[in-house]
Amino acid sequence: MNKKTQVGIVGAGPSGLLLSHLLHLEGIDSVVLEARSRKYVEERVRAGVLEQGTVDLLCETGLGDRLQREGLVHHGIELRFDGRGHRIALSDLTSGRSIWIYGQREVVKDLIDTRLAANGTIHFEVDDVSLTGIDSSSPVLSYHRGSQDHNLDCDFIAGCDGFHGVSRDSIPAGVLRAYHHIYPFGWLGILASVAPSTEELIYAYHDRGFALHSLRSPEISRLYIQVEPDEDINNWPDDRIWEELSVRMATDDGWTLKIGPILEKGITPMRSFVVEPMQSGRLFLAGDAAHIVPATGAKGLNLAVHDVHNLANALIAWYRKGSDELLKQYSTNCLDRVWRVQDFSSFMSLMLHRYSDDDGFKGRLQRAQLGYVCSSEAASRSLAENYVGLPYA
Ligand code: FAD
Ligand code: DHB
Repeated sequence: MNKKTQVGIVGAGPSGLLLSHLLHLEGIDSVVLEARSRKYVEERVRAGVLEQGTVDLLCETGLGDRLQREGLVHHGIELRFDGRGHRIALSDLTSGRSIWIYGQREVVKDLIDTRLAANGTIHFEVDDVSLTGIDSSSPVLSYHRGSQDHNLDCDFIAGCDGFHGVSRDSIPAGVLRAYHHIYPFGWLGILASVAPSTEELIYAYHDRGFALHSLRSPEISRLYIQVEPDEDINNWPDDRIWEELSVRMATDDGWTLKIGPILEKGITPMRSFVVEPMQSGRLFLAGDAAHIVPATGAKGLNLAVHDVHNLANALIAWYRKGSDELLKQYSTNCLDRVWRVQDFSSFMSLMLHRYSDDDGFKGRLQRAQLGYVCSSEAASRSLAENYVGLPYA
């Protein structure tokens, strides 16, 4: 079957769905193709920290109702080491900017509900998506759905299909340069049915490795511990996870970690990855399809939102004014922020994780850096302005 749309979007993660929504607000038609089921996409546990700029964009475009009701505004984070907590007063240091705790799956649910209420087209559970003609003015998305083969003629294709998607690999050899760094650690993350033991996020540095206490709601906690990158989740029964978290987050003043049933657990590798440019012909990459940042800076989702904000504006200028100026600048406009965020996420990661090959030297540097970040206003402010997110250019 042959169909037509203006913008064909591969992937119904935050980037694909938000792009589809932003285009719809300007009367531009799109179709989203997603390999997984709606349930899977809506239940996948991922990010939880939204920058002020991300929240502002979601609210300005009609996606703020539940976010403003259920999201939790945070004005600070804690860095914890040597048994003591040190607060980084995010809002005081950034003229009142803050972060919001609102799970990625809630953002995705809101986006899907909003797109479907507006009669938007999202095809879930499609197979064998392939891209052809990206160097022509009428690229095609081919896919399999139900028992039928489909072709979707598009003006443009947006590759929003994450790190493991097909879009990036459809770009001819020699066009992209990839930068890749694998960190020698991963994160074991849990979602637990227990009230958070803290009001603000805690990033803990400990001789046994990094630990992070985050949350989703007054009843649900989200926690992470540093593990080996190839660690087997079967080595981590629930008791061991809680014990390790309690040791790594312990303080001298008797703070205790509340423990409860673990609802979900999984291991994520830590990597930095960027392709340049983020476009080829009529294919534009956005979000994790173009770049990955290590999770320590809480930036991946926020960067994806910045990409699609730029891409939507560029496509709107093309459809409204016939101008390809912003489309040509898309990659450059995104990559400036991508590399700033790579640097910040790498800084946070290198400061907070233990290295198994450390002969003591790295650890001493890390402690010196943590001490400086917590005692110098200039260093705290630098961390704070990056953490809450630099203003959009
Ligand atoms: P994805 O969310 O990966 O979506 C891509 C979609 O494409 C998926 O639904 C996938 O099923 C679909 N797809 C893939 N291949 C195909 C195909 N061939 N055909 C059709 N569809 C396909 N970021 C933050 O900002 N803050 C945080 O606090 C944070 N914490 C994180 C914690 C963890 C444990 C992890 C894993 C990530 C975290 N991130 C965080 C990163 C954030 O989750 C990602 O950057 C974000 O999901 C990127 O969105 P995306 O839409 O670009 O890609
Ligand atoms: C969360 C994830 C992160 O990567 C981070 O740095 C802080 C919080 C979270 O899932 O809540």
